[in-house]
Amino acid sequence: MKIMVTGGAGYIGSHTVLELLKAGHEVVVMDNLSNSSEESLNRVAELAGKKAEFHKVDLLDAPGMKELFEQTRPEAVIHFAGLKAVGESAEKPLWYYKTNVAGTLNLLDAMEAVDCKTIVFSSSATVYGEPEEMPLTEKINMDAQSCYGRTKEHIEDMLVDLAASDSSWNIALLRYFNPVGAHESGRIGEDPSGIPNNLVPFIAQVAVGRREYLNVFGNDYPTVDGTGVRDYIHVVDLADGHLKALDFVAKNGGLRTWNLGTGNGYSVLEVLHAFEKACGKELPYKIVDRRPGDVAVSYADPSSALADLGWSAQRDIDTMVADHWNWQKNNPNGYEG
Ligand code: NAD
Ligand code: UFG
Repeated sequence: MKIMVTGGAGYIGSHTVLELLKAGHEVVVMDNLSNSSEESLNRVAELAGKKAEFHKVDLLDAPGMKELFEQTRPEAVIHFAGLKAVGESAEKPLWYYKTNVAGTLNLLDAMEAVDCKTIVFSSSATVYGEPEEMPLTEKINMDAQSCYGRTKEHIEDMLVDLAASDSSWNIALLRYFNPVGAHESGRIGEDPSGIPNNLVPFIAQVAVGRREYLNVFGNDYPTVDGTGVRDYIHVVDLADGHLKALDFVAKNGGLRTWNLGTGNGYSVLEVLHAFEKACGKELPYKIVDRRPGDVAVSYADPSSALADLGWSAQRDIDTMVADHWNWQKNNPNGYEG
């Protein structure tokens, strides 16, 4: 199949492009490179033995998006492009709504104009907000607690309305839990700009000597050791979930929503200790105040993805942090170095 991957130069996008190429698909990447580098795609080409076609286009450039779709005529889209920092979204809400929501509208218009009606969308477990029940099933109502999360809710709602209006659309909404790790080669991985917001990239920078210690945000949660619990998922398992979801909706039609997580929760200190084992050294940390907006525990019920797609995460937490460390130690300054 000919597949357009928006945001394909980014972290999850680049790993998915690699799996798509390996599976024999023809891949076109569009990305404005605002949070990524084309070097990721050079390395994907090196690993796959073939290249994805690349176009530097901005989601907000509506005529440019239309032209791109008319020129390339993909049969399906995997839509990763967008902004993802929770803290930044509170400071720049209009920028987040514009990029994520209006940008997705431009994409859908460009798709419709060339009769491309199959899309896999990157949603997030953050749409669940702070529910009482665990694990999180797809049936729980959305109640995002941040501007970033609400942009994901708006896009999901838009896609639900679109599917209801026209049954020829094929749509997968994928709610990811916490993506970590890197391709086993250590050639591609997560390359956050500035100070990492997320736990594993931060720990990796402590391990490689770019940061002094980890701040652990609170140790008084009702969890195994008082620190926050999350469902970490290996980025290559996540990429594989996209291929399976695309295949399913392309064959069966309609709109479907799936959680992509492992179903297991690990605390901050458990992840830190797993990383220490992977890198063979002790990593300093300090307990600090809770981070506003954080929930105590979040993990998936991934049984729908297993039942419908035959997908389940294959890589455990030790593999996730070992692969993340392999990437970080080989690329201490990310793609720049
Ligand atoms: P990323 O920042 O590495 O990738 C996003 C890509 O989109 C980048 O390459 C960036 O340059 C591009 N982009 C941003 N704005 C654009 C625009 N206006 N036009 C064109 N390209 C643009 O992020 P990621 O971690 O790979 O996340 C991919 C998707 O998955 C995002 O939609 C994100 O919200 C979602 N998601 C991520 C996580 C996570 O923790 N990483 C969790 C849940 C959901
Ligand atoms: N944490 C620390 N120190 C840090 C960073 C994080 O203690 O420096 C803790 C957090 O308090 C939390 C856990 O580590 O308990 C995980 O935090 P992350 O920031 O890595 O991940 P979140 O669960 O907060 O959020 C992530 C993405 C969201 C996404 C969500 C669900 O940032 O965009 O996963 O997919 F929506």
